[in-house]
Amino acid sequence: MTTQNQRKILVTSALPYANGDIHIGHLLEYVQTDIWVRFQKSRGHECYYVCADDTHGTPVMLRAQKEGKTPEDFIAEQQANHERDFAGALIEFDNFHSTHSSESKELTQGIYLKLKENGHISSKTINQLYDPEKNMFLPDRFVKGTCPKCDSENQYGDNCDNCGATYNPTDLKNPKSAVSGATPVLKESEHFFFDLKGFESFLREWLSSDGHVQSEVQNKMNEWLDDLRQWDISRDAPYFGWEIPGEEGKYFYVWLDAPIGYMASFKNLCDKTDGLNFDDYWQQGSDAEIYHFIGKDIIYFHTLFWPSVLKGAGYRTPTAVWAHGFVTVNGQKMSKSKGTFIKAKTYLEHLNPEYLRYYYAAKLSSKIDDFDLNLEDFAQRVNSDLVGKLVNIASRCSGFITKQFDSKLSSETIEPALLKEFTDSSEQIAKHYEARDFGKAIKLIMALADKANAYIAEKEPWKLVKNEATKAEAHLVCSLGINLFKVLVTYLNPVLPALADKVQDFLQLDNMNWDSAQEVLTDYEINKFKPMMQRIEMKSVEKMVENSKEDLEAEVEQPSKSKLSDPIKDEIQFGDFDKIDLRIAKIAKAEHVEGADKLLKLLLDLGEGVTKQVFAGIKSAYSPEDLEGKLTVMVANLAPRKMKFGMSEGMVLAAGPGGKELWILNPEDGAQPGMRVK
Ligand code: MSP
Ligand code: ZN
Repeated sequence: MTTQNQRKILVTSALPYANGDIHIGHLLEYVQTDIWVRFQKSRGHECYYVCADDTHGTPVMLRAQKEGKTPEDFIAEQQANHERDFAGALIEFDNFHSTHSSESKELTQGIYLKLKENGHISSKTINQLYDPEKNMFLPDRFVKGTCPKCDSENQYGDNCDNCGATYNPTDLKNPKSAVSGATPVLKESEHFFFDLKGFESFLREWLSSDGHVQSEVQNKMNEWLDDLRQWDISRDAPYFGWEIPGEEGKYFYVWLDAPIGYMASFKNLCDKTDGLNFDDYWQQGSDAEIYHFIGKDIIYFHTLFWPSVLKGAGYRTPTAVWAHGFVTVNGQKMSKSKGTFIKAKTYLEHLNPEYLRYYYAAKLSSKIDDFDLNLEDFAQRVNSDLVGKLVNIASRCSGFITKQFDSKLSSETIEPALLKEFTDSSEQIAKHYEARDFGKAIKLIMALADKANAYIAEKEPWKLVKNEATKAEAHLVCSLGINLFKVLVTYLNPVLPALADKVQDFLQLDNMNWDSAQEVLTDYEINKFKPMMQRIEMKSVEKMVENSKEDLEAEVEQPSKSKLSDPIKDEIQFGDFDKIDLRIAKIAKAEHVEGADKLLKLLLDLGEGVTKQVFAGIKSAYSPEDLEGKLTVMVANLAPRKMKFGMSEGMVLAAGPGGKELWILNPEDGAQPGMRVK
């Protein structure tokens, strides 16, 4: 590749919270990004992949306290764990840093001062609940109490899981601090705000041009753009984070410094790399490309706040923000009790990381649809594609080369058309990698693998080799087989870097960069073939699932983690339970409710002509079109209640902490509207 075409590319994945362990859901994102980066590097581009731990905020501060550690010690341990897991999954960052670093502090404070200078910061006094025992202001999620609308107990400070009402924590009846249990008091405090509203026209333009966001994301934007508010970027001490310059006791809200962590990690890399210059990438008018890979839950922060902050502080904005969907396992949200909440560490104790990398690649596209990891399909697909098809080509051909032909490939090649088909696929496959359509790339590669196997099966070199008259042909067939195998592994190198390393040794190659696929090996000595990849045994998968359940039990024993975020309610008698008429209902219609932030209006069909209208607080997690036609479980005999927007004649069952993480119960096939749930 000529240097003229060489691109300068900076790539990031979202910064994992220091608060939690890396799990296989996270890995979808890091694997997706890593494959894309390895591909760019193998094409000869100057590409850097940076990330960091996201360390600040109240949850980290409280968790460290609970564990009797300083926040610094706590985040250092977590970072070591994260880095161990990423290395295990073959995620190769050029730099992994921390938001609790000098670069982060400098950049965050500098950006704030520029925003202030440019008139994008204002302040105002707000009233907030304060824990008089802990001497701290309480984030909404750290206040619990009785819903002001429906009197349901134990609700969070921002919305009611029971009736869907939204309110301020100050509206809760009988509020309690989730930190100390004390009754909070109202206290005034000055807060600082970023003028997001002032960026509305910039955002409208940015979001709709040059592929900055995916088209599906663009469609969601209008809703948000109509409702931009000033963004509260400050928090009061005590807070684990960076102090706001000139404002004693005030700290930056974690979501301000989190994306600046991308810059901080890159700055740290520049400082230790000769010739790499921070401004070349981040100053306005830079010709470098910057891409952020993220999950769909954090689109808002990355496509509204982040470009506006950069713009307001005089930096360039990202080339694109690319979101992916969420991983489900066996068709359902990862579940601790089912053993499908699988930590990276647990996975790696049982299975080879390349199995997962391959499966993710085979199913990934550039869309934001959720992503199902079906464990049985996973094992079958990996065994059939990688072991049965790919590695099989080399293992069938290499023994003869070693034993019969002095470890040397033939000096001539046969079937030039077949070989050419393999090498000519290069650009088509590259196009799919570039567009993050990894599934399409894998499909093409596997179709070629099928052709290689069919060719070898047809020629039967194991027969040719037995006869002196045809032995030379066997040499040609096996040598071609090895060459075809080499082309395929070169194309798969971004996905399977460890396998490619083994092949590089086997074939004594200097590298397996993209263009090396075009080089044919003739009259060439190779090493003895060693097994390169084992089949997945379902036993190992089952053990991993079992051990994921054990992870959970071990955690429950630790008092620090044993508290359910929703304490179990008081015991009831069977008679109480028996009064509840649970029925399967079909969601016949689902629609938005004008003026309601959280509610959707559902028309539920119970069969036999019976329908019920229900207002459900699930708008944050579902759009109406996703719901229509689905089955769910409802409480059919709840007394009708008059709500602000109309009569609600029942309740649908849903689970989850709230927000986008909310799942309506969704019965399997075979359920019929009206069926009783027992
Ligand atoms: N700390 C923030 C990101 C700050 S970026 C400036 C955060 N951290 S996280 O640890 O919760 O998530 C890290 C990334 O993993 C996010 O992009 C998130 O969407 C992704 N995923 C977390 N769980 C996931 C699945 N189950 N499936 C796919 N991606 C998932 O958000
Ligand atoms: Zn309520």
